[in-house]
Amino acid sequence: MQSDVTPANEKLHVGIIMDGNGRWATRRGLSRVRGHEAGVETIRRIVEAAPKQGIGTLTLYAFSTDNWRRPKAEVAALMTLLRFYLANEVQSLVKNGVRLSVIGRRDRLPEGIAAAIAGAERVTAHGHALHLRIAVDYSARDAILNAAAKAAALTSLTREAFSQLVTGEVGLRDVDLIIRTSGEKRLSDFLLWEGAYAELHFTERMWPEFDSADLADALASFHRRERRFGGLQSLPLEPAPSL
Ligand code: FPP
Repeated sequence: MQSDVTPANEKLHVGIIMDGNGRWATRRGLSRVRGHEAGVETIRRIVEAAPKQGIGTLTLYAFSTDNWRRPKAEVAALMTLLRFYLANEVQSLVKNGVRLSVIGRRDRLPEGIAAAIAGAERVTAHGHALHLRIAVDYSARDAILNAAAKAAALTSLTREAFSQLVTGEVGLRDVDLIIRTSGEKRLSDFLLWEGAYAELHFTERMWPEFDSADLADALASFHRRERRFGGLQSLPLEPAPSL
């Protein structure tokens, strides 16, 4: 079978706010940490399903800058899961052609995690089937603020150049679709720049029970929508005037 060589930025970019681990666990009489463990299983399923469903870039919200406010034990458990994920998953990511990037701050992570992230990014750098971006200690507003601070030193600025400062990537595709599980309907400081025109899909499913069929449902609903990007139905988009 011929492998798909379409560049990642010509396929969909989907962002997921993985919500509901705690409620899923509590309703079953389990600890919240057990819910996060089940959430990691879902990550494995969805990373495997994504390239088969036309997704070239998948950005997962694993830990926000506000999540430091959670009880210390839960934060520690999440960091341990991240450490295990980086240690145990890299080989299968390489085998499946997945390139891993971690976005967000690295300087506040427990010792050794920043180095593990850098190692995983290096080892998976040649993957072309899927670009998996995991947001850790992440805030979209901070990413925009940091980009603005860097941009202040420049004499001219385009949207593309600013995007590069926000995302740390050259030519990263804008987010096409943001999915949030667990029935909550908020963006919670996720991909505010890259997701300016993203379609939004909210599902009642809790993250630990979200599966490839739910992903397919979200994509089917996305493909039924008409995306106009500010233009008019059935007319080709005219270029917007430059600034
Ligand atoms: C939201 O559920 C989920 C999170 C804050 C963490 C998501 C983390 C994982 C899926 C596992 C760790 C990630 C990696 C990459 C190893 P919640 O706890 O807010 O659920 P609740 O709203 O029901 O309480």
